[in-house]
Amino acid sequence: MTERQILVAANWKMNGTLETIRPLLQSVIQGLEGIKSEMVICPPSVYISELATLLDGTQIKLGAQNVSHLEKGAYTGEVSSLMLKDFACQYVIVGHSERRALYGENDRRVAEKFIAVQTNAMTPILCVGELLEERESNSTEEVIARQLDAVIELAGIAAFKNAVIAYEPVWAIGTGKTATPEQAQEVHEFIRLRLARHDNQTADIVRILYGGSVNAGNAEQLFEMADIDGGLIGGASLVAEDFLTICRAMR
Ligand code: PGA
Repeated sequence: MTERQILVAANWKMNGTLETIRPLLQSVIQGLEGIKSEMVICPPSVYISELATLLDGTQIKLGAQNVSHLEKGAYTGEVSSLMLKDFACQYVIVGHSERRALYGENDRRVAEKFIAVQTNAMTPILCVGELLEERESNSTEEVIARQLDAVIELAGIAAFKNAVIAYEPVWAIGTGKTATPEQAQEVHEFIRLRLARHDNQTADIVRILYGGSVNAGNAEQLFEMADIDGGLIGGASLVAEDFLTICRAMR
């Protein structure tokens, strides 16, 4: 089995101003010593240029929270993957449940974004996850399978060699209600097996992050699970000490 390096990605969502992100980043950068996990920060897009400068020379990589599926043109308000690439972004979150629920992104659109990111040599972080009612009606696996299969069909299984998957149960996002390590592991294993149906080797190397109320107190137990390879962190990534503690959690 491949040794997969832990990846911790911060999703700041629509939070922060220049006045708050500068000291936040400074504290994170000051606390980096000894951290072995790979770290990524995804700020709001207007701050990507600022972070590209502030993170230069550190081990922290830069990511984006969203991207257009199109390359360029008359699409007011959109940001293309070519533009993100210009600012040294290495990762882009696609298909976050907030984008799916609030901005109507369907599986097909998410798959197109996934491809747009890879076309510009960046790594997509593909989010999948079920709603509370879907879990309660025992359709978690069906939902995750549908979300994954849409991308496998359009991008091909080989595309997952350069991708990250984030399992984020929607009922656990921003609610303080984390999936138990066992609940998360069960779905992570399901995701890996779903990929393995197409290609064992790809399934073995792809990193699957858990997201949904990860905090300084629960990261370690989650990251100990065999198929959990790190986390996608919302709320806790806005507090330097908490984010650093999560990044220090190892297998
Ligand atoms: P949360 O958000 O850590 O605040 O639950 C996670 C996410 O939405 O990526």
